[in-house]
Amino acid sequence: MFTPPSSVLKSSFTKGLLQWNQEQNTRQMPWKGEKDPYRIWISEIILQQTRVEQGLSYYNNFIRTFPTIRHLAKAPDEKVFKCWEGLGYYSRCRNLLATARFIVNERNGHFPDTYEDILQLKGVGPYTAAAISSFAFQLPHAVVDGNVFRVLSRYFGIDIATDSTAGKKLFTTLAQELLDPRQPGPYNQAIMDFGAVICKPAAPLCTGCVFRKKCVALKMQQVDALPVKQKKTRVRERWLNYIVVVCNQEVAIQQRTAKDIWQDLYEFPLIETKKAVNKSALMKSATWKKWLGDTVLIRQADPVKERQLLSHQLVHGYFILLQTDRKPRAMAGWQWVKKNKLGTFSFPGLINRYLSDGFSI
Ligand code: ADE
Repeated sequence: MFTPPSSVLKSSFTKGLLQWNQEQNTRQMPWKGEKDPYRIWISEIILQQTRVEQGLSYYNNFIRTFPTIRHLAKAPDEKVFKCWEGLGYYSRCRNLLATARFIVNERNGHFPDTYEDILQLKGVGPYTAAAISSFAFQLPHAVVDGNVFRVLSRYFGIDIATDSTAGKKLFTTLAQELLDPRQPGPYNQAIMDFGAVICKPAAPLCTGCVFRKKCVALKMQQVDALPVKQKKTRVRERWLNYIVVVCNQEVAIQQRTAKDIWQDLYEFPLIETKKAVNKSALMKSATWKKWLGDTVLIRQADPVKERQLLSHQLVHGYFILLQTDRKPRAMAGWQWVKKNKLGTFSFPGLINRYLSDGFSI
């Protein structure tokens, strides 16, 4: 049976964390101490699904390219997507653009300054709203995510599943109680940094940790067992077979419009299958015949495989390069693009890897 932590243990946590932040936290990041809500918002959206190390150069480039919300709002979609290329989860980029245009057009460029209004923005959930409102406006809202679950479950020795309804409620309430309302920004930044550099998922640095005398998990030798999750994330596999048709230095591409992974990005004509297939099976398919049945193939390259792991999907790419003597019949959605202009379109990581490693004509 879980017993709620004592107020002494709770206040030691807050004090210890803030002290660690002041005296030992050496993590440098360009958005730290930033007060411009626009810049904070950009950094938080980038960091939603991206590690700090990877996000840094994207953040710097984004701010250089779009220094204010007005620059972002009036930028062409393609330019913004190009800046996002490689970060993944492109709905973040779409939401970013829609929100910038909303703030400029409907709010005369004024970034909302209450937690509730920030939470209304597209692509902003409770975590991001808490981060922005505490960093930019010193509002007392605690961030709660996987890092916070981990730090709190270990320090307080809580083995309730973090993805259960009861767990979510308990950790959210506890996180809010622990926040120092006089310094919500530094507190939130401190818990994020502490979870990333000390109380890490694997091989946490317990020996030198400021909480080594208080941490319940350490005392009970439960550090590796916490936090507890009830569900395992299931990874679905997909097989995307790309037919790379080249004719007179032009390549056929299409935009992904469905509400699926990589929405709005570009790809080659696609035949998706339920399992791995080889080239001869694809050549027998109705789609192949429809696209290429009456076309003369003047060259065919060996198929190239690339893989990309997303959070819930393992995507197998299978690329078949064909050179034709004339363009196949016009297919809905296909665009013919000069080979040397492919770089102006945004592609998923797996296709970019193919373009730089396997695409040779
Ligand atoms: N993850 C999300 N927001 C962050 C921030 N401000 N600093 C470090 N990691 C983060």
